Amino acid sequence: MIRCGLFFLCLLPPVCLASLPLVINTWPFQSAAAAAWDALQKGLSPLDAAEAGCARCEQDQCDGSVGFGGSPDERGETTLDAMIMNGDTMEVGAVGNLRRVKNAVGVARAVMNYSDHTFLVGESATVFAEGMGFKSEDLTTNRSRDIFSQWLNQKCQPNFRKNVFPNATMSCGPYKPQAKLQSGPGRKLGLIDLRSHDTIGMIVIGQNGQVAAATSTNGATHKVPGRVGDSPVAGAGAYADSSAGGAAATGQGDIMMRFLPSFLAVELMRGGDDPSTACKKAISRIKKYHPDFFGALICANTTGGYGAACNRSPGFTEFHFMVSNSQTNKPVQEKVYCI
Ligand SMILES: *[C@@H]1O[C@H](CO)[C@@H](O)[C@H](O)[C@H]1NC(C)=O
Ligand SMILES: *[C@@H]1O[C@H](CO)[C@@H](O)[C@H](O)[C@H]1NC(C)=O
Ligand SMILES: *[C@@H]1O[C@H](CO)[C@@H](O)[C@H](O)[C@H]1NC(C)=O
Ligand SMILES: *[C@@H]1O[C@H](CO)[C@@H](O)[C@H](O)[C@H]1NC(C)=O
Repeated sequence: MIRCGLFFLCLLPPVCLASLPLVINTWPFQSAAAAAWDALQKGLSPLDAAEAGCARCEQDQCDGSVGFGGSPDERGETTLDAMIMNGDTMEVGAVGNLRRVKNAVGVARAVMNYSDHTFLVGESATVFAEGMGFKSEDLTTNRSRDIFSQWLNQKCQPNFRKNVFPNATMSCGPYKPQAKLQSGPGRKLGLIDLRSHDTIGMIVIGQNGQVAAATSTNGATHKVPGRVGDSPVAGAGAYADSSAGGAAATGQGDIMMRFLPSFLAVELMRGGDDPSTACKKAISRIKKYHPDFFGALICANTTGGYGAACNRSPGFTEFHFMVSNSQTNKPVQEKVYCI
C-alpha cells in the first residue's frame, strides 16, 4: 500500500490513507469533526482540538446522545460522562455521572489541569466544576422530559434491571433482589434503542505524531442512577499513547468496558498491527463472549493510518465515522461493514 506523507503527491487517492494531522471520530458528527479540524488549522494542540471537537458535540447535542437534554436516567435526569487523554504525557482527566454542567469534556480537562486526580464523579464533580468556574444549570429539556414521561407510561420499559421483584418487565419498582439469580442480560437486546448508546469518541494525531483522545456522552437512556459507562474510563472509552496510537469506542459500554478495547487496540498497534486489524481484533475479543453486542471502535496510528470496526448486531451492520486529514482537508464521512 502506498503511504502518502505530507510532502508526497497523492496519485491514487483511494489507497492514500495515511496523512497528518488526522482527526477521526465516531459517528457522522460533522460539526464536531469540523470544530476539531478548525482548531488544528488555528495551531491549537491535538489535545485542545480533541477537547474542542467533543465540546462542540456537547453544545449541538449530537444526535441527542451527547450533552444536555438526552438519555434521561430512571429519575429523568441527564448526567454526563467525559474524558480526555494526552498521549505525550499519559495524563488523563475524567468525569462520570456529572450533574448540571453542560461542558463535561471541559470539566474533564479541568480535572487534568487543576488537580492531581484522574477521575471525579457525581455531585462532587459538579462542586469541583463550579469551583473552576463552570456554570451550573438544569440539563433537562422538553425532549428529555418527553422521553422520560413516555417511559413512565410504558411501565418503565425497557430498563437495565435484572433478577429483581417485582419483576422488571412489569413495573417501575421499587425493586428487590430475587433469590434465584440468573447470569446474562436481563432482557432481549432488541428492546434497547441502539441510539441510546451513542457517544462521541475522538482521536487527534498531530503533525509530529502526538496522540490525543477525548470522549463525551450522556450515557445510556433509562440507566440506573449512578451508572457510569465506558466513555470516561481510560483504556475503555478511549486511549492515547504517542508511542503507539489512539483508539476510541462507542456502543454498549457496560459490556465493552470490561474488555478495555481501546487499550487493547493501541497495544496491538504497538505490536505492529495496522489500525484496521487492531480495531477488528479488539472487537472480536468482546464478540467471543457477547456475539450480539452493539459496539464499534476507531483506531489511528502515529503516522496517520486509521481504521474502524464494529460488531454485527440486530439493526447494526455498518458503522459511520468522520475523518479529516491533510488530504481531505475537511471532515469526510467513511464507513465500515461490521464483522
Ligand atoms: C488547560 O490548560 C491549557 C493549557 O495547558 C489551556 O489551554 C486550557 O484552556 C485549560 N483548560 C481549562 C478547562 O482550564
Ligand atoms: C417546552 O414546553 C413548554 C410547555 O410544555 C413550552 O411552554 C416551552 O415553550 C417549550 N420549550 C421549548 C424550548 O420548546
Ligand atoms: C413477571 O411477572 C408476570 C406477572 O406476574 C409474569 O407473568 C412473568 O412471567 C414474570 N416474568 C418473569 C421474568 O419473572
Ligand atoms: C499505520 O497504519 C498504516 C496503515 O493504515 C501503515 O501503512 C503504517 O505503516 C502504520 N504506521 C505505523 C507506524 O505502524
